[in-house]
Amino acid sequence: MSQRIRVFATCDIGDAVNLLHQQGYELEVYPQPEAPPKSLIIEKVKSGVNGLITTLRDPIDAEVFAAGEGTLKVVAQIAVGFDNINRADANKYKVPFTHTADVLTEATAEFAFFLMGALARKLWSAEHLCRENRWSYWHPYLPFLGDEVTGKTVAIIGTGRIGLALIKKCAGFDMNILCFDPAYENHDYIQAIQETNDLRYQKGISREQTSIRYTTLHEALSTADFISLHVPLLREGESTTPTYHLIDETTLRMMKPTAMIVNTSRGPVVDETALARALRENWIAGAALDVYEKEPLPADSPLRDPAIADRCRLLPHFASAARITRLSPDPNKGMAGRCVQGLIDVLEGNYGGDVTKMPYVVNKEAFGK
Ligand code: GLV
Repeated sequence: MSQRIRVFATCDIGDAVNLLHQQGYELEVYPQPEAPPKSLIIEKVKSGVNGLITTLRDPIDAEVFAAGEGTLKVVAQIAVGFDNINRADANKYKVPFTHTADVLTEATAEFAFFLMGALARKLWSAEHLCRENRWSYWHPYLPFLGDEVTGKTVAIIGTGRIGLALIKKCAGFDMNILCFDPAYENHDYIQAIQETNDLRYQKGISREQTSIRYTTLHEALSTADFISLHVPLLREGESTTPTYHLIDETTLRMMKPTAMIVNTSRGPVVDETALARALRENWIAGAALDVYEKEPLPADSPLRDPAIADRCRLLPHFASAARITRLSPDPNKGMAGRCVQGLIDVLEGNYGGDVTKMPYVVNKEAFGK
C-alpha cells in the first residue's frame, strides 16, 4: 500500500481541513494559537511531510526547504502577502508555494475605508467621551470636530487588487482619487471609474464632478487629504522598486499637516519611528495602522505614546479578519478554502500537473519549460 500524503499546518484553519481528510491525507495541526518555533517546522518537514500550511508569521526559507528535499512538495500560505516566504529559496529547491489572493480583497479594502472614516471622524475619542461620562452637552463645535471623508482627495499608493477595490469604494463616496504605483498601472480600470463618476454626476447622483488619475508619489502625498497604502513589502534587492520604508521622514514631510495615513499593507512599508515623530510634532494629522514593523506591536513601541493616542488608531492585523473571508471552505470565498485547494492542486497534480497553470501558485517562474 502506498504511503498516505502527510500535511502539517502551522495553525488551525477551521473546517476547510475536512477537504484534506476527504482526500485521505494525514493531517497534523499545530494546536497553539501562537506561531510554532521555526525549529519545530523544520523538524516536521524533516520527518517527511509533503504539504506545509503556513501563514504570514512563519519564516520559510532555505533551511526549511533543505529539510524537506525530496519530500516537501508544496507550501500553501493562508494569506495574500508572502514576504515571510523566501521566493528565491523556494525556486532554488523547486518547491511551489501558493497564496490566497482575491478572496480577501474586498474585506481588506473595506477595512481600510472604515479605518479612514474612523480616524477622520474621531470615533475612538468620541466613544471614550461617552463611556467615560464626559459627554455633557451638544455644542456646534465642542469638545472637538472630525473631518468628512466625502468629497475629499484620497491617494491610493499601490494599485493592485486591494488598491483597486478601495478606489471603487472611495468613488462611491464622491472622493477625488490620486493613484500611484511604483510598478504597475491599470489605466483601463481608472478610466472606467472616471466614466462611472461622470455618469453619476450627469444623472444628479453626485453633486460635484470628481476625478481620478495616476500621478507621482510626490504629488499624491503632498495633495491628498487621506493616503492609503496597498503595496507589497519588497526589500532592497528583492525588486527594482522596493517598498521598505516607502513612508519615512522625507515622504511624511511631503504630506499636508491636515492629512491622515492608513496602512493595511505591511508594517515595514512605514518607518514607525518617523511616523510617531510626525504625529507627535503634528507634521500630519493622523494615522491608522493595522500592520507593524514587528508583530504583535511591542509594548515599548513609540506608536503607543499616550500623547498621540487621539490621532493614532492601532489595530491587530485585522483587515481580512471577517468570518467568510477567513474561514469559508469555498475556494472562491474563503482564505481557508483557497489555501487548501492550492495545496491539493499541487499534491494531486491538477491542471495536468503543470504548476504554471495552477491559479494559486505564486512562484510559477521556477516551473516554466
Ligand atoms: C494579510 O495580511 C494577508 O497577507 O493575507
